[in-house]
Amino acid sequence: AERSSFVVVANRLPVDEVIVDGERQWRPSPGGLVTALHPVLKEHRGTWIGWAGGDGEAPDPFELEGINIHPVPLSAEELERYYEGQSNATIWPLYHDAVETPVYKRRWREAYRIVNERFAKAAAEVAEEGATVWVQDYQLQLVPAMLRDMRPDLRIGFFLHIPFPPIELFMQMPFRAEILRGLLGADLVGFQQRLAAQNFVRLARHLLGLRYVGQSIQVDGRQVKAGAFPISIDTKDMERLAADPRVQARAKEIRAELGDPETIILGVDRLDYTKGIELRLKAFRELLSDGKLKVPDAVMVQVATPSRERVEHYQTLRVKVEREVGRINGEFGKVGMPAVHYLHQSMSKQELAALYVAADVMMVTPLRDGMNLVAKEYVACRSDKGGALVLSEFAGAATELRQAFLCNPHDPDGVKDALLRAVAAEPAELKRRIRVMQRHLRTHDVAEWARAFLKELGVTDGSESLEA
Ligand code: UDP
Ligand code: G6P
Repeated sequence: AERSSFVVVANRLPVDEVIVDGERQWRPSPGGLVTALHPVLKEHRGTWIGWAGGDGEAPDPFELEGINIHPVPLSAEELERYYEGQSNATIWPLYHDAVETPVYKRRWREAYRIVNERFAKAAAEVAEEGATVWVQDYQLQLVPAMLRDMRPDLRIGFFLHIPFPPIELFMQMPFRAEILRGLLGADLVGFQQRLAAQNFVRLARHLLGLRYVGQSIQVDGRQVKAGAFPISIDTKDMERLAADPRVQARAKEIRAELGDPETIILGVDRLDYTKGIELRLKAFRELLSDGKLKVPDAVMVQVATPSRERVEHYQTLRVKVEREVGRINGEFGKVGMPAVHYLHQSMSKQELAALYVAADVMMVTPLRDGMNLVAKEYVACRSDKGGALVLSEFAGAATELRQAFLCNPHDPDGVKDALLRAVAAEPAELKRRIRVMQRHLRTHDVAEWARAFLKELGVTDGSESLEA
């Protein structure tokens, strides 16, 4: 394979391989990690190492929009144990405040090690002498240390896209010391929030007795830095998309299809139990039942993108969400006029942008979320239209988007109150709030995020040293 001076290692590639009628096709893969990293890699070029979405043999490396794509294979058993098991039934719930009970299995752990080693080897093979390797997210926490063993010449960064839990929770993890040592193989470990970085340095002392000064941990005579780097979106690109006449036309069409209601309330999430989809539906139902909102003046659109469908927690969630949607429509819908328009589908960025443009109120109510890019995308799409963002305090985005209608998702009355205030707010106030948040996103976009991280990692001259 071609060698590279800038390598990103993530579980997901930006595209998924799908076989349609025996033919290979590529489609964009889901989630905030891909949304954020894709523009960064397009700008810097370099190599992206990741899984192509299927099982069995990996496709050959290829080029996509100037990025070298380097697929790593997963067997069907690894997919079950490493991806669905250890990554998404153990680590994902544990790191999200255990809002669902984490499941611990020894054979999952073993698969996690084996797959992490495979990713590390792939990076060791494609990285040039002295290259920068940037490892991403909770699926690959052992990679930094493994890679450092194989290639001590490399500059290694790690970024965690999801929350990093407080010590008491992290300590549940059966192979906790190995995970921590894995992360400490990096020169810089980045988090979404300052609190997460603090959890990490304290954990290093608590679990391994390591010393730290400020955010810098001493490990075997090396310095490992920790820091907060809140991730973002490609703001300009999102604004451009929202302004596209086709998107604007589609937004009008959506409003018409919904019967031109006064208030369109929108939710867009992967169907994940961290996202608070149920509690949002419940708040809407109670407001209908209290007579504070009325169909068809107010309707809700909920996009719930299929995700991790073979993991049990996700299957139970789907049943609960769909039952709630059915209940609301049964009670409050009319013929040809459902109260909740529920879409269990994956949407293109264009269609999402049109929905953002069409929606008066955006509800982002996770119980816990590392950042939540959907909230930022909504704000960026609103141009001068105003629009209200109801945002959970437990989303990383709440640290930045202070002009949202903030709420505590654990308090149903608080959520209802925030939603009602959002629905009733004066247009001038909404415009003012949105404008402040838009200004923030223009300066704090994803390119700035990457620049800040790479600068801290010591990659000084961004553009030049990153050329592939
Ligand atoms: N997204 C998408 N199609 C969908 C649903 C979501 O393209 O059907 C995108 C969305 O625009 C956003 C990302 O997926 O960029 C979700 O990121 P977020 O940080 O909100 O949540 P995550 O899924 O990473 O937990
Ligand atoms: C979150 C995680 C990403 C993950 C994405 C989609 O954003 O932080 O690492 O790629 O969700 O989930 P999936 O399991 O489909 O990759």
